[in-house]
Amino acid sequence: MAKSRSEYVCQSCGGVQPKWAGQCPECGSWNSLVEVAAAGPRTSRSGGMTGAASTRIQMLSEVAVDEAPRAATGMPEIDRVLGGGVVPGAVILIGGDPGIGKSTLLLQVLSALQGRLSTLYVTGEESLAQVHLRAQRLGLVDLDLPVLAETSVEQILAQLSRSNPGFVVIDSIQTLYTETLDSAPGSVSQLRETAAQLVRYAKSTRTAIVLVGHVTKDGAIAGPRVLEHMVDTVLYFEHDPGSRFRIIRAIKNRFGAVNELGVFAMTDGGLKEVSNPSALFLSRHAEPVPGSVVTVARQGSRPLLVEVQALVDRSMVGTPRRVTLGLEGNRLNMLMAVLHRHGGIALGDQDVFANVVGGMRIQETAADLPLLLAVLSSFRSRPWPGDWVVFGEIGLAGEVRPVAGGEERLIEAAKHGFKRAIVPAGNKPRRSLSSALEIVAVGRLSEAIEQF
Ligand code: TYD
Ligand code: MG
Repeated sequence: MAKSRSEYVCQSCGGVQPKWAGQCPECGSWNSLVEVAAAGPRTSRSGGMTGAASTRIQMLSEVAVDEAPRAATGMPEIDRVLGGGVVPGAVILIGGDPGIGKSTLLLQVLSALQGRLSTLYVTGEESLAQVHLRAQRLGLVDLDLPVLAETSVEQILAQLSRSNPGFVVIDSIQTLYTETLDSAPGSVSQLRETAAQLVRYAKSTRTAIVLVGHVTKDGAIAGPRVLEHMVDTVLYFEHDPGSRFRIIRAIKNRFGAVNELGVFAMTDGGLKEVSNPSALFLSRHAEPVPGSVVTVARQGSRPLLVEVQALVDRSMVGTPRRVTLGLEGNRLNMLMAVLHRHGGIALGDQDVFANVVGGMRIQETAADLPLLLAVLSSFRSRPWPGDWVVFGEIGLAGEVRPVAGGEERLIEAAKHGFKRAIVPAGNKPRRSLSSALEIVAVGRLSEAIEQF
């Protein structure tokens, strides 16, 4: 009789090794390999949508597409991050810290979907009584909301094929287990196998499935990244500690744009959508203060006004500190060098701290120019006028380069009553956008500094 095979799965990256080793050869983490029974013969896995015998090569042009009708959830902020609604057969992973509001949000989505799609809420974390209490709090008790308390993926799949819902929420994927593996629920091998079974079910029956995943301390959905490549859409739920605002961001989306944002506020009655979040990320100062510059960032397709702050202070340590929150640290270092060489301003003996108000993260280069002007404003203790707005990328040669979506950004700024915009020459609009917004186009960093 053949000896039962075992393999070793890294608990941090999910890589599979035939032999045990102290260090995972794939991700380099120590003591992370755990022995698991090898999955059954490979042939049983190749099932899926088409049996091995029935596949054939086709011309792309002859592949039938049934233009997937998206089901709008009735919550525009969710539809926005999903790229316009729920696609049948899509698997959506939604991650976030414990207690941020994932279960609350999904319960609201399920109730908003009533009458449009048949749904099922599977809870593995809370009892049905707890779910009922939450629904009561949200004012949703009168709804006919099918719920199931179950953690065995085989049982869940059996229930699903019986009731055939169109939209299923699994809260959370970390509590599920498959009877075919011995390892504990939440381990990487269980996560991968249970998720794979659900993905296969979603694709073969065109059921949309939402998997809730908790984020671990180091910020990745537990079983780091093992689920991200298996699903169609990855959404992260973020918030600034202490703030009641919640941001949902699409990190990956096979059916829409990434980096789309949805903004919510947590209230007594659950999450409320914030449809015009632009002003959230501005701290309203009575008087303009030094070191603060407003920019228009773009998150997905949405322009957002955000405030970039900098504090420049004489350093008390040998190597001056460069600290960033919500901005990229290396970029700040590079910009300081450009400011020195092309702006003639040396800050070699100064600590520089940079921050984006409201816990927002900016990853685009359009924040370069506002960041440098904020640094300069703090250094000179001169406030930047509160009704001026700035964006633009800075190159190593000291040039100010155009950024994507210039017109949209200017329209957003005009909408919020800004009087003057300092923008890259390449972003100067050909037509007049607003009579109230004066546009100053600059080609070099030095020209931008002269404005001030
Ligand atoms: P929850 O949805 O349970 O978080 P998760 O599923 O991400 O772990 O959210 C729990 C938090 O939300 C809890 O701290 C209480 C708060 N909350 C409200 O403020 N208002 C509400 O109406 C509800 C239902 C929860
Ligand atoms: Mg929960």
